[in-house]
Amino acid sequence: MKAVAVKPLTKNSASLLDMPKPVINDSEALIKTCAVGIDGTDIEINQGAYGEAPVDEDILVIGHEAVGEVEEIGAKVTDLHVGELVVPTVRRGDSSDYQERGIKKAHGFLSEYFKESPANLVKLIPELGNIGPLIEPMSIAQKAIDQALKIQQRLEGWSPENILVLGAGALGLLLTMALRSKGYEVYTFDIADSDSLKAKTVQNTGGKYVGAKETTLEKFANDAGLSDLIFEATGNSDIAFSAVNILSQDGAMCLLGVAGRDHSSQICLGCLNNHIVLGNRVLFGSVSSTRTHFEEAIETAKKVNSQWPGVLNSIITDDMSLTEYGKAFQKKQAYQIKGVIHMDGET
Ligand code: BGC
Ligand code: ZN
Repeated sequence: MKAVAVKPLTKNSASLLDMPKPVINDSEALIKTCAVGIDGTDIEINQGAYGEAPVDEDILVIGHEAVGEVEEIGAKVTDLHVGELVVPTVRRGDSSDYQERGIKKAHGFLSEYFKESPANLVKLIPELGNIGPLIEPMSIAQKAIDQALKIQQRLEGWSPENILVLGAGALGLLLTMALRSKGYEVYTFDIADSDSLKAKTVQNTGGKYVGAKETTLEKFANDAGLSDLIFEATGNSDIAFSAVNILSQDGAMCLLGVAGRDHSSQICLGCLNNHIVLGNRVLFGSVSSTRTHFEEAIETAKKVNSQWPGVLNSIITDDMSLTEYGKAFQKKQAYQIKGVIHMDGET
């Protein structure tokens, strides 16, 4: 079968190769991959900055945002049926020694087939098949929101009036949609033009788009007020740490972006320290997601689809066939949001 793999920590090493089709045991399922989304992590892996091959191997099959169809089940599998659509979760193992499929020590899903145990497969209704690759990133958004709301339970009767999402890439937009579908007021900040697809996507869900070309975070806060919750999804640590300044008293900020490791800058640590302590603020990071977040993500996607038909679909701006995988690693233009590789060649 065909698969796209990299040689971890080697720049631009992604290539299309032939690999043996997986053979399942009694308790596994064989999945025929339908589509795989590509995100910043995959791009980082292809740039040689991240990623780890399975033990004793030197290549890593990439891809962790997948949807597939059950092709075959082991004799002991009772809760899955041939033909059902599934989305695989990513992380395996415990938090000290974990693997992530397509990222760390376990092959990913950008191959014609993969095998999995049913515990790591979440069923997807056929109506959501087209946006299947968005369920994994939506689960990351869902976890971040869940964690923020749990953390804020430290405050009696707290509810956010002003939520700010930094970044209108796929993750920022999925956060915006999820928050809007829960009825929150959301501002989404990005460098994209105010008539761009990113801006329109925010507005289509009733969110307010804040264009970095028109305003600064400081001016935004002067006009709209301080933010009670901030989700950082740009991966730009300058933006992240300047946004801390517009976090309201008792507010919480979730960092989701992975920043350049060699990026440093001079900031007043004492000021940051006091701002957080004296303002009773929380700054936290969130990564990965569990099966529960995937299930919640599917529910959220259903709601978003019925509230704003077509909006989820519209952020998949680039459909490619497997042989065109290279396109997914090219530098994105402003109008490109999510690239998806379709295994059957139909785009
Ligand atoms: C993936 C997560 C993963 C994280 C860190 C993200 O792109 O979506 O599942 O935990 O990278 O490796
Ligand atoms: Zn990802």
